[in-house]
Amino acid sequence: MDVLLKVEGISKSFPGVKALEDVDLELRRGEVHGLLGENGAGKTTLMRILTGIYRKDTGRILLEGREVEITDPSVAKSLGIAMIHQELSLFPNLSVAENILFGREPTRPLSPFVDFAAAYAHAREILQMLGDGIDPQMKVGRLSFGDQQKVEIARALSMNAKILIMDEATSGLAVKEIERLFELIRSLKGKGISIIYITHRIDEVFEICDRVTVLRDGRVVGTADVQGISKQEIIRWITGRTIEAFYPKEAALAGEVVLAVEGLSTAGTGSVNLTDIHFRIRKGEILGITGLLGAGKTEVCKALWGMERVVKGKIWIEGKEVRIRTPYEAQLHGLAYVPEDRRTQGLISEMSVAANLTLPKLHELSRMLFFIDGAKEAEVTKRWMEKLRIAARSPRQKVKALSGGNQQKVVIAKWLETKPKVLLVDEPTKGIDVGAKVEVRRLLSQLAQEGMAILLASSDVEEVLSIADVILVLHKGRVTGRFPREEATKDRVMACAMGIEERVTTL
Ligand SMILES: Nc1ncnc2c1ncn2[C@@H]1O[C@H](COP(=O)(O)OP(=O)(O)OP(=O)(O)O)[C@@H](O)[C@H]1O
Ligand SMILES: [Mg+2]
Repeated sequence: MDVLLKVEGISKSFPGVKALEDVDLELRRGEVHGLLGENGAGKTTLMRILTGIYRKDTGRILLEGREVEITDPSVAKSLGIAMIHQELSLFPNLSVAENILFGREPTRPLSPFVDFAAAYAHAREILQMLGDGIDPQMKVGRLSFGDQQKVEIARALSMNAKILIMDEATSGLAVKEIERLFELIRSLKGKGISIIYITHRIDEVFEICDRVTVLRDGRVVGTADVQGISKQEIIRWITGRTIEAFYPKEAALAGEVVLAVEGLSTAGTGSVNLTDIHFRIRKGEILGITGLLGAGKTEVCKALWGMERVVKGKIWIEGKEVRIRTPYEAQLHGLAYVPEDRRTQGLISEMSVAANLTLPKLHELSRMLFFIDGAKEAEVTKRWMEKLRIAARSPRQKVKALSGGNQQKVVIAKWLETKPKVLLVDEPTKGIDVGAKVEVRRLLSQLAQEGMAILLASSDVEEVLSIADVILVLHKGRVTGRFPREEATKDRVMACAMGIEERVTTL
């Protein structure tokens, strides 16, 4: 087998954490190699070492049999190693072409000025390799998330990458967009490009990967051919235990209506406006809202959270009509919102886990006591750290030192701790590991059982099918499907999501 990249005995420590210990990894030419592991297992750290963002403490990296020292990102680039990050790193105000060629724009002969015609032509060429009609002159900020991701990939390809690292590339994508990304990966593979593919969705491994390596607590548990390993085995490698990844919710005892929305329309900042949205959520019920990227799931949450301009429609909470113009008003009415973009909207990265976790209630605590009850804060934090397996050294650790998935768990815990009447959760299991995914779903079911009304926005159709009592499907800001859980199937929901079918039963 033709080995392109070999990593031997790599270790890396951060203050107080051994992030990687004696890691070996082998990447063959033209293979898609899955890299899996719990949040905080060390996946991103390893990839940052390969791309020169972090320096390894010990170990060797061999490229085509030759040892290389990847001392900074420019070395990685020149060696043909490129990474699509967990968070995209594009400039929204620059055009597609400028983003692809950033720092390497063609100039006219003997002139310092950018030759835009040449830049656009070159960018178009690369985008065509991706088989897509994205306009190179379009500002990146106006593209959908899926298209932005293509621009990131195009940028990597334009640097002649031989190795492409994708860190949770699909976590923000819906089924249809994932299929397209997979087609793209297959065609790259056909061109001899090797891909390291990081994901928390284990099903994807069987669809796209040739081999898989699992990390746990910074060490390699094993590497296997995908052909020769089962899903349950991979889960056992990841978590060190056996778990059932599917948690069907118990049927809700239909209580009174807690939240009702009628004829809601918005003219907001989002990429899509909502038109005439109707739904109700009863006490103890989970309403699952699903749809493709840009269908309007997040806009529904934001409209209820006072962050989207509502131009028509009514909202009732416990039978009383309310107006919600700001997040503060939403909180006063008993709502809580776990946003999709948790790292930028939900956290203060310079503050500790404990401070972030108890933040929403701070005003209440300090007004009553005039000081922050440190012991209480630590106790609450410890409880959540255990419950969601948040891998932090202590409640006092700064949030910015946590892995991506662990940061997300902190935000979820923070809002659950406020015990709202209505909980709005946007993509709650995006980016979190298989064990915590099950834990979050179980927690949502349990909270519903205890009487909370939950609005679950998720592009993961399986997730919605497994725990929602009623499923609402959106397409371009309109409701195209409404199903009680007994009548919902993946095919039916997908057909509505793609706008091929409409199926709206009465409330
Ligand atoms: N800059 C840093 N400073 C201190 N600790 C860090 C830093 N970056 C990562 N760590 C720690 O190293 C460990 C591995 O983190 P890493 O981000 O590699 O995990 P991951 O496998 O990518 O997880 P996720 O699935 O959540 O993205 C974690 O314990 C994390 O808290
Ligand atoms: Mg990571």
